[in-house]
Amino acid sequence: MSASSQQTAAIILAAGKGTRMKSALPKVMHRIAGCTMVGHVLANLAPLRSGPNVVVVAPGMDQVAAEVSPTPTAIQHDQLGTGHAVGCAREALAGFIGTVLVLYGDSPFISTATLQALVTRRAGADNPAVVVLGMRPADPAKYGRLILDKSGGLDRIVEWKEASEAERAVTLCNSGVMAIDGKVLWSLIERIDNKNAKGEYYLTDIVELARGDGRACAVVEAPEAELMGVNSRAELAVAEALFQDLRRAQAMEEGATLTDPKTVFFAADTKLGRDVVIGPNVVFGPGVEIADDVEIRAFCHIEGAKVAGGAIIGPFARLRPGAEIGADAHVGNFVEVKNSVLGQGAKANHLSYLGDADIGARSNIGAGTITCNYDGYLKARTVIGDGAFIGSNSALVAPVKVGEGAIVGAGSVITRDVEADAIAVSRAEQVSRTGRARDFRAQRQKMKQEKAGRK
Ligand code: UD1
Ligand code: MG
Repeated sequence: MSASSQQTAAIILAAGKGTRMKSALPKVMHRIAGCTMVGHVLANLAPLRSGPNVVVVAPGMDQVAAEVSPTPTAIQHDQLGTGHAVGCAREALAGFIGTVLVLYGDSPFISTATLQALVTRRAGADNPAVVVLGMRPADPAKYGRLILDKSGGLDRIVEWKEASEAERAVTLCNSGVMAIDGKVLWSLIERIDNKNAKGEYYLTDIVELARGDGRACAVVEAPEAELMGVNSRAELAVAEALFQDLRRAQAMEEGATLTDPKTVFFAADTKLGRDVVIGPNVVFGPGVEIADDVEIRAFCHIEGAKVAGGAIIGPFARLRPGAEIGADAHVGNFVEVKNSVLGQGAKANHLSYLGDADIGARSNIGAGTITCNYDGYLKARTVIGDGAFIGSNSALVAPVKVGEGAIVGAGSVITRDVEADAIAVSRAEQVSRTGRARDFRAQRQKMKQEKAGRK
């Protein structure tokens, strides 16, 4: 085989309206573990280094085009069936003669290994024109049925609507995914018609057409869970649960402790180091990297954040995008960190908002410290030097700098830079009057008695 015929391209079908989602959003834009369904498909495809790839969309699905970019899209103006949809990708794949994978944008869990198995089977000695991904679902429902010949090759695919009782009894079902010889793909597609129960151009017809041309066709099987399609919000929730269960198991397999796995929610791209301990009720949004030996205590929400080794987060902490927590740093309860760097060993243990701040190593951020980073128009940064101490209930009005080793007195509103090793206090002077509390109580007691006596 020539090098070019060994290459792989992919067509991802995503033009279906997804009416059962009851959504303004195209179906493949709905998210599982923070990533769109079509994003999952592209991510699982990526290790195959396939190309050209193209996503087939309906008119007006600009959000899908933006999501899959730089992968190009082809527009299918009318949804005339899966065969017609593949035909819409012809121009994008012009001149390509390798193996063409057809995937569904609403079947997010197909694994890289399964895609590789299809491509490998396509390269088999019998040079099959079409390799179809089969499954044996618990409920074969209305899936197309794969009809094998005596030697185990694939003879044809019959859609449920057209299937006889005997054919419906077949348990080997069509997942929809295929690997097709690019040399014959378009000649097969051109010959599909729509004379069938649905009046659609069925992609599945290419098997019979290829067999008619004297070519072999084959089946590769994969587990049903990998091939689940999402058509409704209920199925989206099932898909989410399935993904989370697998991801939790993987996290533990890779050396993380999850105290109560069922209550931890990962994003598709969450990265965890070794000996990470995650308490109950922790939610990860997209873009999180947790290094080795980090402890994340109960009820934390973490998104777009990096946490270095040995840090302790929570309980009840929120790390928002751009939070970078240094090694051995502590972020405690009801502390929100956004777009801020917390240096090594720094501590912000209670009730704080740290936004747009650079916080030095070993510094101590007292309870209730607020970085005032926004004036209603613009954001500004707060810079705190190494080893600084910010007293409780301080407001740091950015842009402002607190130097290394400086101390800010509790309750201060800091609006001007504090030099290194200085103490800054900005609050009203304390006044104490000796004995005044006792006098006050005596006076009030007397007034109360006089008032009662008058009644
Ligand atoms: C298809 C298969 C069936 C298989 C099932 C697996 C055919 C004829 N039938 O049936 O054998 O068991 O999938 O789920 O292929 N799409 C377009 N444009 C269209 C039509 C569909 O982009 O004109 C896309 C849809 O968005 C979807 C995918 O193709 O992602 C499958 O379409 P769908 O209508 O769900 O096919 P099924 O009837 O379920
Ligand atoms: Mg379907």
